[in-house]
Order: sequence, then structure tokens, then C-alpha cells
Amino acid sequence: MKHPSDMIAARAAGRPISVVTCYDAWSARIIAATDIDCVLVGDSAAQVMHGHDTTIPADLDMMCLHTAAVRRGLGDRLLVADMPFLAHRKGLEPTMEAVGRLARAGAQAVKIEGAAGSLDTIRWIVDSGVAVMGHLGLTPQSIHKLGGYRVQGRQQAAAQRLLEDARGLEQAGCFALVLECVPAELGKQITAEVGIPTIGIGAGPHTSGQVLVLWDLLGMDPSFRPHFLRTFLDGFALLKEGLERYDAEVKAGTFPSAEESYT
Ligand code: KIV
Repeated sequence: MKHPSDMIAARAAGRPISVVTCYDAWSARIIAATDIDCVLVGDSAAQVMHGHDTTIPADLDMMCLHTAAVRRGLGDRLLVADMPFLAHRKGLEPTMEAVGRLARAGAQAVKIEGAAGSLDTIRWIVDSGVAVMGHLGLTPQSIHKLGGYRVQGRQQAAAQRLLEDARGLEQAGCFALVLECVPAELGKQITAEVGIPTIGIGAGPHTSGQVLVLWDLLGMDPSFRPHFLRTFLDGFALLKEGLERYDAEVKAGTFPSAEESYT
């Protein structure tokens, strides 16, 4: 995919959409060599790349740096960047400044968490010509208010609120919607209710597509194994093995060889 409209077309055609979160040029280059549809430069960069406990420390400088790096590796593949914590809640002018910086760093769309109190801002951004992806369910920027990383929308009233928020985001002009950690049945219901693509993470198999963090799906962190995650590689063990072989050869004096040295 090259444009947000390609994602809308994929949903309309019933083609499942694959999205991956990544943060740097070298992994973007690998993704560009696959058929993955879209890359999200998530504010989970604060956790995966910078070792923080939450996404809250991610700021605009951090997001722009990672977005520009990913763009350099990704070619013309569709790239969405997260608006970091509170970046869209400080008034219209700072919001549009943040959107402009992410767009100039290479994002074709921005993702905004939550709906309540943000619909007018989202409409303004969309009317200004920038595509917006919504994000409902477990919204990690609100982690302290939510009280922990847990499934959202299990109770009838909360599920109803999420349904209404999804409709509100579609009406505000969002081109797609991330649904994070909601029961599969609610993921199915929201997907049936809205016309825009839904991209699930821990939202069951009925959404229009799936998103996982590259680091997680490659099995790079053995200590992070949430219920929804499938690892497609034992990346931690593979990379560790490569490093151990390098270390062993350096210490055995077998690297570098004569062929690997300049005469
Ligand atoms: O920050 C992120 O990586 C995300 C995805 C997990 C949806 O928001």
C-alpha cells in the first residue's frame, strides 16, 4: 500500500491488511522487502527502543526522529506515525504544528488515541488534508487512568461506549481505526458497524487487518508474551547466537581471517 485510500480499498475488497510497528531504518528496509501493507511508527518506541515502562515519555522529537528514520528505509510504503502523549490536546495551533512535523518527517497519516473530546480536532486535521487513524480500546497513553494493561469493553456499557466512539471517529473523518485489546466479539461488532478498516491488536480475527510490534512478532523480548501475541521467530535466540559466535571467534583469534584483512 502507498496511500491511506489503499487501506480503504483493501477493506472494501475484503483483503486482510497487515500492519507492523517499527522505529528504525534497518528494520524498515526488511519490511520494504516483504508484502506488509503498512508501517506504524508507534509511540511504543518509548518502551521498545528507549526502555521506558510506558509510552508516555515519547515526545514529538522522539517520534519525528523515528519517523524520518523509518521513511528512509521504507521507500514509498504507507507510513502512519503516532501523535505522542497529549500532542493533540494542547490547542489547535500546537496540534497542527505537531501534525506538520510528523508529515514533514515522512508520515502520510497520524494516529490519535481516544475519541472523547478529540473529535473536532480530528475533523480539523482531516479537513486540513492530513489522514488520521483512530485508536480505541486499550489506549496506552491513558494507562494510568485505565489502571493497567487489560482488555477493554468487556462490560455492556463500556462496549456500547466503544461502539459509539468508533462511529464518532468515522464521522470525524478517520480513514482507519486501531482496536487494541477488546473481546473478539466486540472487534467483530465494531468492524460491522463502521465502514472504515479496523486494524486489530488483541481484538480477534474479525477485524479488517492486524497490527503487531515488529520486535514482539519476531520474538525479541522473551519476557513479553501477552495472550494475543504470536511470535513468528525466536529472534532473541537467533541474534544471541550470532553475537555469541562473533564473541567466540574474536576470543579464539579466528576472526578476522587473512581473507578478511587488508594487505
Ligand atoms: O505504539 C504502537 O506500537 C501502537 C500499536 C501497538 C497499535 O499503537
